[in-house]
Amino acid sequence: MDANLRAAAARIRGTVSEMPSLAIVLGSGFRTILDGWKVEARFPFADLPGFFAPATPGHEQAAILLASAEGCRAVFISGRMHFYEGHSMATVTLPIQVLAHCGVQAIVLTNAAGGIRQSWQVGDLVCLSDHINFMGNNPLRGQSWTGNSGGLANLCGLYSERLNSCLERNGRKHGFTMRRGVYVGVSGPSFETPAEIRMFERWGGDLVGMSAVPESIVARQCGLEVARLSYIANLAAGRAKSEIKHREVLEELRRSGKRLAQFFLDFCLEAGFSDKSSRSSVN
Ligand code: HPA
Repeated sequence: MDANLRAAAARIRGTVSEMPSLAIVLGSGFRTILDGWKVEARFPFADLPGFFAPATPGHEQAAILLASAEGCRAVFISGRMHFYEGHSMATVTLPIQVLAHCGVQAIVLTNAAGGIRQSWQVGDLVCLSDHINFMGNNPLRGQSWTGNSGGLANLCGLYSERLNSCLERNGRKHGFTMRRGVYVGVSGPSFETPAEIRMFERWGGDLVGMSAVPESIVARQCGLEVARLSYIANLAAGRAKSEIKHREVLEELRRSGKRLAQFFLDFCLEAGFSDKSSRSSVN
């Protein structure tokens, strides 16, 4: 096992006796989910071996946080190390591996994405039904660890129907437009060309983004129950009249911050991630 993984997991396990069963990865603009949660422990990326403080706007205060709210406990990854920043696949997926090693059992990943499907609009939330890996890489390539299955990862049914329907029910309850779709993962850091977007549409892609694929594959390989919620922050290249700007991507979601926080709290309660679902960490 990777020395950084072992050391980072030991750091967390040395402080936290009961690990929550749920992890939530907060992508661009999703930090407001934490409003109303009481932070019990904080592990800045800068203090964890093998982790890097991200350069992307909105990810600078990156940390792993243990928090509780209204009878729920969860571990949050606030901030993300991106492949397009030049990090290896092993580095961008290290936080997922660390939390799986600490005893987390389910993970909800969030991110901003560009909408490909013509009828979708900025502000829609999408639960992934599946993904297409167009990153030209795979996080399991060359890894010495083989995960729970002991062999090549099976990616059928990667995204949990149980978590997806629970997210959809609670999202609708709080007034969000909830969609289901196929995510196309690209490496970035440039946005796509309009021709690429037309090609992705023909392939059956509904939305496009730069973060989901490696994390989801590694989460599956670690045996976690996985869901991914994407926020349509912009229409994909060639779909909208104006230029795509990262700052606008973040602003759009912050405006719905309170509703989003309540949505996630209700999701955690309904999906069974209350205090009682915490478990002792793996040794
Ligand atoms: N393309 C890729 N990644 C993205 C986009 C996009 O249009 N919007 C937010 N992340």
